[in-house]
Amino acid sequence: MQLEVNGSTVEVADMSATLLDVLRDVRPRLASVKDGCAPQGQCGCCTVLVDGEPRVACVTPARRVDGRAITTLEGLPDELRDAWSDAFTACGASQCGFCTPGILVRLAARVDGSTSLENALAAHLCRCTGWQTIREAVVDVRSPSPRAPRDLDAASRRATIEGRTPQHVGRDVALGCGGFAIDTVPDGARYAVPDGDGGWVLGDSLAEARRASGRIQGRRTTIAATAPLSLPPGEWTTTLRTSWVEPGYLEPDVAWCEPGGEPASSLANGGAFGAKQHSIVGDAARLLAAREARTVAVVLGREDTVRLGPKRPPMAIGLRADGSGVVRVARTAGIADAIRAVAPGLVVDEVDIAGPPTSADIRGAGWVEVAVAIAAATGATQITAANGATASSTVDLDAEDRGVIDVRVRCGAVLDEIVLRSYCIGAAHMAYSWVTSERLAVDATGAVHDLTIRSFGIVKAAETPRIAVTIEPDDGPPVNGSDAVFAAVALAVWRAHGLLSEWPCGR
Ligand code: FES
Ligand code: FES
Repeated sequence: MQLEVNGSTVEVADMSATLLDVLRDVRPRLASVKDGCAPQGQCGCCTVLVDGEPRVACVTPARRVDGRAITTLEGLPDELRDAWSDAFTACGASQCGFCTPGILVRLAARVDGSTSLENALAAHLCRCTGWQTIREAVVDVRSPSPRAPRDLDAASRRATIEGRTPQHVGRDVALGCGGFAIDTVPDGARYAVPDGDGGWVLGDSLAEARRASGRIQGRRTTIAATAPLSLPPGEWTTTLRTSWVEPGYLEPDVAWCEPGGEPASSLANGGAFGAKQHSIVGDAARLLAAREARTVAVVLGREDTVRLGPKRPPMAIGLRADGSGVVRVARTAGIADAIRAVAPGLVVDEVDIAGPPTSADIRGAGWVEVAVAIAAATGATQITAANGATASSTVDLDAEDRGVIDVRVRCGAVLDEIVLRSYCIGAAHMAYSWVTSERLAVDATGAVHDLTIRSFGIVKAAETPRIAVTIEPDDGPPVNGSDAVFAAVALAVWRAHGLLSEWPCGR
């Protein structure tokens, strides 16, 4: 078979390959074509054009596009690619940048306006940005705003503070070149994927390793998703039970290592909101490289990420009107300290429950739930994080055009307003989605049953309220502000839903 990829002929020998497999093998590398959920076909990260029409490459058999013209972001006309990536950078519409190339390809293909923006974005997921800035970039590309001079080093510093892992800001990020480990695997490396039994299956390509693992894709389950912890006994005026929640970052965990070397970081430009801090892939790559005496890339698929990656620990909180009470939480290293940082007087009761691993590193885990519950119990409207950042929010879900979330934040020197605003909007979307919609089904043995990226309950673009951010001036040292925004919006959204005692509480 032969494909025309960005104007060059590519020979395809593997008749069972997907178009994504083929495009990931093209050299020089087409780094824009990302695998966020293959073969689920649900995230849009692998979107390319086939004879000018957007297609998700991970569910497109290569044989079906034999002889046809494939265009990736790299193959778009320079002016078009530059205009879109400039607009995304100027509006803060790309953070980790993993989802962005697929979105850009689809948006660039609808320059004639033949598809509505809502329809175009419905094919995609973005976990970082909260959609608002992407909408603004679409307006900007049609009539570019004047570009004020910008210090991208300062922007990267603000992004790193908000992402809590090294983050980079620039046009290359919007083009998908943020430095993800999967894009820097040396040629000739072996690939390793989980065998589903605690071990690894290796192959000379990612597609070969996946085929050899013989894993069946999971799907949305009929098992009910529930809050797993019961409330602590007592007389409470405010109660809250939270569920298993998937961090839902788009860039699955990947690390590669040479024999005797240090693993490439799985955190490059994708901090995963803290969920990758202790990813298993780095150590696995080091061990397998030593065993094989070859460079080995360890690659988690979407399902592996859901099964093996840490979740926010479920909680059950009972509070009196003065904010005193008891927090019951799934036993998690560091969670008691995180809670006591904002509520030193609360009793923390850690319990063992069957379920996936949990982590206190995931965005404000522990302290956010407690700060929100205390504010609800005492009638407070402002959240103060342990780092001193403050945030407040009001929500009008009945306002015209999808409702509106207003956010106010103070978190030291701004450094770059575009980046700070973007991270606050992303945090507001994540909080809204968490409180109203997100949870995972976990059975009595602790096995996760919701394994597809659309089954986590992440709120889509068309259902996301408009988000307005006010940044209060502050000359203090810059500190993370988006976690305080995350808590403030969770509080406002919960109030708007009548402080129902279990999350998610519906839209
Ligand atoms: S990787 Fe193809 S849609 Fe997600
Ligand atoms: S920028 Fe969209 S997932 Fe990170």
